[in-house]
Amino acid sequence: MTTIATSIQPTDTITDTLARRPRRLRRTESIRALVRETVVRPEDLIYPLFVVPDARPKVEIGSMPGVWQLRAREAAEEALRAYDLGIRAVLLFGLPEYKDAIGSASWDPAGPVQEGIEAIKRAVPQMAVMADVCLCEYTDHGHCGVIVERNGVADVDNDQTLPLLAKQALSFAAAGADFVAPSDMMDGRVGAIRDALDDAGLTEVGIMAYSAKYASGFYGPFREAAESAPQFGDRRSYQMDPANIREAIREMELDVEEGADMIMVKPALSYLDVIRAARENFDLPVAAYNVSGEYSMVKAAAERGWIDGPRVMNEILTSIKRAGADLIITYHALEFAEAYA
Ligand code: PBG
Repeated sequence: MTTIATSIQPTDTITDTLARRPRRLRRTESIRALVRETVVRPEDLIYPLFVVPDARPKVEIGSMPGVWQLRAREAAEEALRAYDLGIRAVLLFGLPEYKDAIGSASWDPAGPVQEGIEAIKRAVPQMAVMADVCLCEYTDHGHCGVIVERNGVADVDNDQTLPLLAKQALSFAAAGADFVAPSDMMDGRVGAIRDALDDAGLTEVGIMAYSAKYASGFYGPFREAAESAPQFGDRRSYQMDPANIREAIREMELDVEEGADMIMVKPALSYLDVIRAARENFDLPVAAYNVSGEYSMVKAAAERGWIDGPRVMNEILTSIKRAGADLIITYHALEFAEAYA
């Protein structure tokens, strides 16, 4: 004579199922804030800046709305604005006055990055200043290393490139950079740069290594911003194959052994598994680069009204941090910090 309802004991499956209600933790914004596992702060972000010589105008990048090529003094103003909003680091890229086969403009003490570093350090001494180390912005062929011909085929020579990268890194460090960030993907460059810095007595200058940097289609807009597209061929003989993750671990291991202070995964969004692997395998701070193409896709879709730009920005940055990144290099930095304030 028992009804179905009364025959159910507290331990029965149906009752148990209904007792477990994860939605209780999502009921109000206060409760959601209380149980939120991942929170991105402006202090987690690194803001990239493109610095041009004084003779050039300030120009917005067509494919990256909100991102500008700036002169040193404008870069300093932008850094001050960022610092006031809680951002603690900028990463500088330079567009030199001239290009040649070996990128010699990159170690000119009056180059845009050197002047940018000095101007930022004068305007905002507390700001951590990082400088990207690579030859591609400075070479007339647009490759990240020295080109040699082997059996009639052009090739990027690893070992001839190392001293040039070291020279460039030294020049940025001498101008006052707190960190240099080699993005060239030559073998042994972290060690070569570490040795050069130490020999020059610049032992306090750190290295943020682009350790797992993939040959990615997502760099397209950056090459417009930095005027650094390769004039022939592509970067697949030095940047990593997007299919590989074990190789990423090996690259990170080598950079750690050679003296990197931070390791980086780049790009971020299509490589969240690599960020997670970096976090699980290494104790150093892990940075992730939310690259130009990732930024431009959000801006383009938002402009068309197809997505809610700020909301998607938050979701993207949160996902990168949730995957395991301690630091995120992102063109959204200022916009994020403005909304956060
Ligand atoms: C220089 C460099 C690149 C980026 C950072 N440093 C371009 C490239 O490797 O072609 C890409 C950054 C971005 O897309 O936002 N080697």
